[in-house]
Amino acid sequence: MMDLKLLFFSVIFLCTSQLFAREKSAPKPNQRKDVALVTNKEELLFNNRVFMEAKKPKKKVVTATDYDIPDDLDQDSGGAQKRDEELPTCLLCVCLTGSVYCEEVTPDMTTVPALPKETAYLYARYNKITRITNKDFADIATLRRIDLTGNLISDIEDGAFSKLDNLEELTLAQNRLSKLPMLPAKLTAFNAGFNLLKTKGLKATAFKKLTKLAYLYLSNNEIEAIPQLPESLRIVHLQNNNISSMTDETFCKGNNTHYIRYNLEEIRLENNPVDLAKYPQSFICLRSLPFGLY
Ligand SMILES: *[C@@H]1O[C@H](CO)[C@@H](O)[C@H](O)[C@H]1NC(C)=O
Ligand SMILES: *[C@@H]1O[C@H](CO)[C@@H](O)[C@H](O)[C@H]1NC(C)=O
Repeated sequence: MMDLKLLFFSVIFLCTSQLFAREKSAPKPNQRKDVALVTNKEELLFNNRVFMEAKKPKKKVVTATDYDIPDDLDQDSGGAQKRDEELPTCLLCVCLTGSVYCEEVTPDMTTVPALPKETAYLYARYNKITRITNKDFADIATLRRIDLTGNLISDIEDGAFSKLDNLEELTLAQNRLSKLPMLPAKLTAFNAGFNLLKTKGLKATAFKKLTKLAYLYLSNNEIEAIPQLPESLRIVHLQNNNISSMTDETFCKGNNTHYIRYNLEEIRLENNPVDLAKYPQSFICLRSLPFGLY
């Protein structure tokens, strides 16, 4: 705000001084050009500032030794205990109220970092995390979104997410998962595209139980059968898998021709072995046909 005021006054000053200058002496032909030039420069500066403010804060890159809390910080009295908990993660990552951004962290991040209390949004994309344990999120019931895209995760302990009662969006895309852990009940969006999932790695009712799930992304895996889908689902992506068949019950209710599945608006099944033309009865409850091979 201060800078804006300053800018405003300097522009006014420039304009008036130019005006005086022009009144005093006879206007020279190139003076008008000068005013335009100066104004443009100011404008440029102003635009640049606004642009820079809109950008995300840059993360700090620190060396491995900084992972430990420096001694001089321990001497700081006010809220020292809080600092003890939060500093290591918030040195490597950017912590803003409720959000933690740990993207492409150097040195390599191979485990989930200790999170500040009350964290609601965690973005830990493009790191080298290999494993998620039951302890990683145990104390952070406030989490609403976790994004672990582009790590090396091949193993997730079964209870790692199951008790996160506020978790709405979970993204595990681009990892090395061959099976999924238990998913928390309030999920609305789940993404495990680009993994190594097979049908035997999915619990039969893993998704059906999630009564708020609206977006399910499982493309680019090795899934052989369409999983049971909850009534709340709006979009399901299963392209680039190994699905070779389906039944009249997959999307619809085979014995009830009056049933209409209102919520489900997009089904993607391209690049699967299944020939959808063989299952005309499977789509009668849908408002639009799945994308795929006919
Ligand atoms: C796809 O499924 C078939 C059996 O239906 C199996 O023989 C084949 O190995 C699977 N391919 C992949 C890439 O998993
Ligand atoms: C329709 O099928 C469902 C299971 O798919 C079953 O519970 C129900 O009893 C069947 N209804 C009739 C009228 O056959």
